[in-house]
Parts: sequence; C-alpha cells; structure tokens
Amino acid sequence: GRLLILNGPNLNMLGTREPGIYGATTLQDVEELCRRAAAEAGLEAELLQSNHEGVLIDAIHAARTTADGIVINPAAYTHTSVAIADALRAAELPVVEVHISNVHTREEFRHHSYVSPAAVAVIAGAGLNGYRYAVDHLASLLGED
Ligand code: DQA
Repeated sequence: GRLLILNGPNLNMLGTREPGIYGATTLQDVEELCRRAAAEAGLEAELLQSNHEGVLIDAIHAARTTADGIVINPAAYTHTSVAIADALRAAELPVVEVHISNVHTREEFRHHSYVSPAAVAVIAGAGLNGYRYAVDHLASLLGED
C-alpha cells in the first residue's frame, strides 16, 4: 500500500513558527517520523508540503490512481477550503486529517473544518504523534498491520 502525506501552508516554518503552540520540531522531523511510521506499517509514503492550495489539490487528484490513502494536515486551509474538501471527496480514498495543536482550544475560527466531513478520522492535539496515529489508522483500514 501507498500513502500520500500532505502538509499545507506555513508548515515548512515548523520549528521557528509559534514554537509555544507547534513545538521546536521541524517539517523535516515530521517527514522522517511519517516515513518511519509508514515503513513500520509496511506502507510506502509520498510526502509533500505546499503553501499553494492548487498544488495540494493537484496532488490529491493524482493520488486517486497512485495512492491507497491520504494523511493531510491542511493547516489554515482546514478552515477556508471547500476546494480541498471537494478534491478529497473526489479522490475516493480514506483520508485522515491531522492537526498538531488542539484546534478546539484555540480561536473560534479554528473550530470549524471543511475537511473533516471528507475524512474517516480526525486527530488534533496529539502533537507530531498525530501523524503516526494517522499512518497506523490507515494501515489498519488497509489491512496491512
Ligand atoms: C494546524 C492548525 C491550523 O488551525 C493552523 O492554521 C495550522 C496548523 C495544526 O497542525 O495544529 O497552520 O493545522
């Protein structure tokens, strides 16, 4: 099985961006953790971070035929993007939505997600471990653990 693991806007700034909320670890740490979690679950992982909504959407469309599941931290697009949610529905793949922080303890505008209705599971507030839980959940859905 093969996973597409997507990180949205500003997540390339992890480590320097609001460390009180997101911690000191970097996008590279996230990607290493994801690769390791996928390998341990017997899955291949393709990783992409983009600050551009259309780039994320194109990758989701491509995943329809090249991946078996999607892990996505849509970052701020969570709260704004009908287009990403529609692309995820069009992909017809199991999707797990991840947020490093617990968005529900933060500003009101972070409490609503356009993406959640297109996801089989949502993980928020588990820090970087959330990515591992997402990978493990997809592995169990795909019958690879
Ligand atoms: C985030 C939460 C979002 O509200 C925020 O815009 C992000 C990161 C998280 O991982 O906690 O950029 O998705």
